[in-house]
Amino acid sequence: MIRRANREDAEAIAAIYNMSVAAGFCTADTEPQTTAGRRKQMEAHPGPVHCYFVFEWDGKIAGWASLAPHRPGRKALRFTKEVSFYIHPEYQSRGIGSQLLKHIIHFARESGIKTLFALLLESNTKSIGLLRKFGFEKWGHLPGVADFEGTEVGQFIFGRRVK
Ligand SMILES: CC(C)(COP(=O)(O)OP(=O)(O)OC[C@H]1O[C@@H](n2cnc3c(N)ncnc32)[C@H](O)[C@@H]1OP(=O)(O)O)[C@@H](O)C(=O)NCCC(=O)NCCS
Repeated sequence: MIRRANREDAEAIAAIYNMSVAAGFCTADTEPQTTAGRRKQMEAHPGPVHCYFVFEWDGKIAGWASLAPHRPGRKALRFTKEVSFYIHPEYQSRGIGSQLLKHIIHFARESGIKTLFALLLESNTKSIGLLRKFGFEKWGHLPGVADFEGTEVGQFIFGRRVK
């Protein structure tokens, strides 16, 4: 089941995110995030501007996806949002990422958003596969921008129009 997240979900959302931080090379974050920090992020831009969806499996949060504003405050960018998605390792490869991305594309379109993009490490082949599956294309490359204790990894920008 996919539903909008609420503030009580911040703990599970942060925990799933931190599993990707610990796994390494999924996100450019190298330090775990606190529940309070994630809740603050969730509440900073409520509503369709910055929103979270969670996927529940047997009452447990198995993954989440979010839409975030791109350079908030710059009005001309108001129809463009950044999408992120994180699935609990025990629930990966079961189609949950696909369901969440499909849902968020539909939600974005219904909300009047025109463009979605994701920023991801170039080594994140699984996310690239997921994005390509839903029509995202490579729009940009930031070479070597992430430094993991001396190992440099670039970032890709994958995007697609939804309207
Ligand atoms: C990337 C991630 C969100 C995918 O979620 P998931 O629930 O495991 O994905 P799904 O089971 O829906 O598979 C989605 C698609 O990914 C692609 N995919 C899956 N495994 C892949 C692999 N090893 N290599 C390339 N593409 C792969 C396929 O296109 C697959 O679709 P298909 O099964 O119809 O062929 C999940 O693995 C994850 O949370 N990873 C860690 C966090 C992360 O990297 N987040 C992205 C930061 S922007």
